[in-house]
Amino acid sequence: MRVLGVNAIYHDPSAALVVDGEVVAAAEEERFSRRKHGKRPVPFSAWELPELSMRWCLERAGLTPADVDVVAYSFDPELSKSAEDLGLHDPWDHLRTTYAQNVGGFLRSALPGIEHARLHHVPHHVAHAASAALASPFPTSSVLVLDGRGERASHLAGRYEGGRIEVFTTQELPHSLGLLYESLTEHLGFLRSSDEYKVMALASYGRPRFLEQLREHVYATGDGGFVAEIPDWTRFASRRVDDGTWGGEHADLASSVQVRLEEVLVDLARWLHERTGDRVLTMAGGIALNCVANSRIWRESGFEEVWVQPAAGDAGTSLGAALQAAAELGEPVRPMPGADLGREWDDAQLAQWLRGARVPFTTPPPERFAQDVADVLAADGVVAWFDGRSEFGPRALGHRSLLAHPGHAENLERMNDVKGREQFRPVAPMVLLDRAPEIFSDGPLPSPYMLFVHRVADAWRDRIPAAVHVDGTARIQTVDPARQPRLGATIEAFADRTGLPVVINTSLNTAGRPMVDDPRDALELFGSAPVDLLVLGPHLVRRADVFAAAGSPRPAGGAVDDPPGDAARGGEGATA
Ligand SMILES: [Fe+2]
Repeated sequence: MRVLGVNAIYHDPSAALVVDGEVVAAAEEERFSRRKHGKRPVPFSAWELPELSMRWCLERAGLTPADVDVVAYSFDPELSKSAEDLGLHDPWDHLRTTYAQNVGGFLRSALPGIEHARLHHVPHHVAHAASAALASPFPTSSVLVLDGRGERASHLAGRYEGGRIEVFTTQELPHSLGLLYESLTEHLGFLRSSDEYKVMALASYGRPRFLEQLREHVYATGDGGFVAEIPDWTRFASRRVDDGTWGGEHADLASSVQVRLEEVLVDLARWLHERTGDRVLTMAGGIALNCVANSRIWRESGFEEVWVQPAAGDAGTSLGAALQAAAELGEPVRPMPGADLGREWDDAQLAQWLRGARVPFTTPPPERFAQDVADVLAADGVVAWFDGRSEFGPRALGHRSLLAHPGHAENLERMNDVKGREQFRPVAPMVLLDRAPEIFSDGPLPSPYMLFVHRVADAWRDRIPAAVHVDGTARIQTVDPARQPRLGATIEAFADRTGLPVVINTSLNTAGRPMVDDPRDALELFGSAPVDLLVLGPHLVRRADVFAAAGSPRPAGGAVDDPPGDAARGGEGATA
């Protein structure tokens, strides 16, 4: 059975394809359209379908629209209530329901030939829950979903067993931890429904001095649900204009809300654990991208393992809807193989891109590749790393990443400069899986999807200062060389040179742009940002060579020397 999953209703439109129970492809529309988050999450845009990612999913599997058996859409208009009944204030909210009711027509326009497919509306939070429980490697789990909103709720607590999800309870709107956090994001001068992660980063600079007052507005109710009233934020701190300055009261407010959120999430997870006694908790929904809260849940809720869907935001609901529809129609579904579910190009295609761009490059023999890249990193060069299929979800996990040396504190600023973003934002360490326990604690290991924060061992804080956040933690990704051989070998070679089994990693994009997805995006970034080396699959492009080929002097401050004999090593060795 071929099931095309579609998320279009709120945030981060995306598509996913499940064939015979297997996740074949999943991608966010922004990676194709190059519009950050795909579209603004307003009712007027809810009709727009992720056409480019839908088409690509089918192409990837060699299918046409006529081959699709089921379209699974992650919103069920039957569950909708009017905004008034939900206590929301949006006179246009009903458009979402109307568009969802008419999605069949929009689908036929977007993908002619798809007329025969059965349309399956999957409730929004069930789609989130399936993206966690069905996509995880565990046959049984308790499942917790928290986000801004779905049809009428903002939460789901339930259990997955024997191929089906049992829903215990949902929290209806207007109570929503996601909407609370979004409202704070706006008050702090950031873009609502987009920049919530900046609030999380800012929180670690403040003290939670408003916590007591917040407890009156936000609390778990002891029955699996919660109350979340949005307070008048000006009681605590003035509305902030994002002018790049930072008042202590804003960081304190962010910290207070963050801590309160963590406390309530722990209460909700504990309630679920007491009810099920399960060993494993799976989670999704935009709130599950809050790594600090995830680690507290792991430590304090009673569950031994916590697995979070890497595309925990609404993008993941296309995948969840497809898995849920397949399961409901009797298909045994298999866990997702990893977060690398997007586009890829083979080595020859990548070389073709480089030749087409008239960029000089080398293709070292495989045994030299990691050594060459590690040389650049050890010499404090910044490396743009493009390898394999792109990631589904907001985290760069070694497929579209920007890498640098963790041993120099100023590299945090340097990475943020490349990306044109706020200096308070942390960058995250990638660490070799087998070395992680000696450096990082207080969070789950392995941690392959960068969804938890860990405490950095005292002895390591000065050794990897660029990777350590102001509060002594780091949001780590463990790298298993068996799963990511090229990246693993590179970090191993870097460790040989520096004694550090860690590199710093941030997503490969510049300010305001979606993550790099295709080779054109990678070349554009390389051409416009101070990056010393571009890794495109097995091919290496050195900034120094590009300038030499162009007959220009080398840029001042170039961190990396040309290794001798480079030309002699070049396999592909194309020149301009
Ligand atoms: Fe959602």
